[in-house]
Amino acid sequence: MKTTIHNPANEIQDLQFFGEFGGVNPSISDSSTYTFLTAQAMSDTFEGKTEGCYLYSRHSSPSNMYLATALAKMENTEAAHVTASGMAAITAVIMQLCHSGSHVVSSRTIYGGTYAFLKNMAPKYGINTSFVDITKLETVEAAITPNTKIIYCETVSNPLLEVADLNGLSALCKKYNLKLIVDNTFTPLLITPTKFGADVVIHSLTKYINGSSDCVGGVICGTEKFINELKDVNDGSCMLLGATMDSLRAASILKNLRTLPIRIKQHSYNANYLANTFKNDGIKVVYPGLQNHPSHEIFISLLNEEYGNGGMLTIDVGSKENANMVMQSMQDNNVGYLAVSLGFYKTLFSAPGSSTSSEIPAEEQIEMGLSDGLIRFSIGLDHDIKRTNQIIMKCIEETLITT
Ligand SMILES: Cc1ncc(COP(=O)(O)O)c(C=O)c1O
Repeated sequence: MKTTIHNPANEIQDLQFFGEFGGVNPSISDSSTYTFLTAQAMSDTFEGKTEGCYLYSRHSSPSNMYLATALAKMENTEAAHVTASGMAAITAVIMQLCHSGSHVVSSRTIYGGTYAFLKNMAPKYGINTSFVDITKLETVEAAITPNTKIIYCETVSNPLLEVADLNGLSALCKKYNLKLIVDNTFTPLLITPTKFGADVVIHSLTKYINGSSDCVGGVICGTEKFINELKDVNDGSCMLLGATMDSLRAASILKNLRTLPIRIKQHSYNANYLANTFKNDGIKVVYPGLQNHPSHEIFISLLNEEYGNGGMLTIDVGSKENANMVMQSMQDNNVGYLAVSLGFYKTLFSAPGSSTSSEIPAEEQIEMGLSDGLIRFSIGLDHDIKRTNQIIMKCIEETLITT
């Protein structure tokens, strides 16, 4: 029986895709092109007159459609389209909604690749961006110009874990007739941005949703109309820029999606435990689930029940040298891996200032509070998080005492 209240985990559980021979997994469409029974059907399909027909796998394929359908259900949107990477999803959305002369208002704390695209590449096509403190709605509103087309943010930002006030931002979008584009990569299941007025939701599937750190992928979730526009053979950015997901990958990500609810709960449980013990031990920790986080109240108000407070946290150990030594020690002691990315079963840690956010110039990093000593953690699925905490504390204490 279908529940009326949208619960993303139930939506994933309720998916029922049969394989060609009654298999419990949908069959994989191992084809780049599709036959038409008549020449007329071929021209009708290219003109967008026929529904449910596949023409060429850069446009869509059955395997990609299964994954897209599942993710649209998860994000409570009419439709979705999967892409070759998270960056492919982000750039396709921006290129579709903006044109030469358009203006974007973006959070200044976003993934470094997105920042670099908006700052360095989009201006080549006449698209300019104002980067603002997304937590200050009056600053966001002041940056809007008659040419603004979109407000862009991450639900919980990479790497500073700032929380976007989605209700406030969507009210601004309605007032000025803009689209609210939300990258929900850090908080799948935890937060459903469309509940708070997001128009388009993007994920890097590379992270929590796939969860195995074995591929890159992305998704765009939105209205049926917008998703069809992205796939339009004449001017659709996904169709024409061509960063398509491979069908075999779509099939494997769909299989991993099924365990996302239990994985997210365990990531959250472990991160919550570590954030609290770090805080009690006097370590400078940022975690939106802690009451001392500046946007804690907004964060709590956005959360779906049952998934906890997420698996991402940062600590500040004072300097780049300290950060490097602590991370080296944690890798040597098998806490996890010194690596970028997130959502893996092992804990991953990196210093964003010199890795995932290195595209952001040093002076801007300082202005936004991204310090050299910051270590970003994607907390793993560790079975015994108390044991992990003891090892991390030993790494921090030993390293910092010797400096
Ligand atoms: C929040 C966020 N969005 C988007 C991306 C880009 O995704 P991908 O590496 O799959 O292109 C990343 C990558 O780190 C990210 O952290």
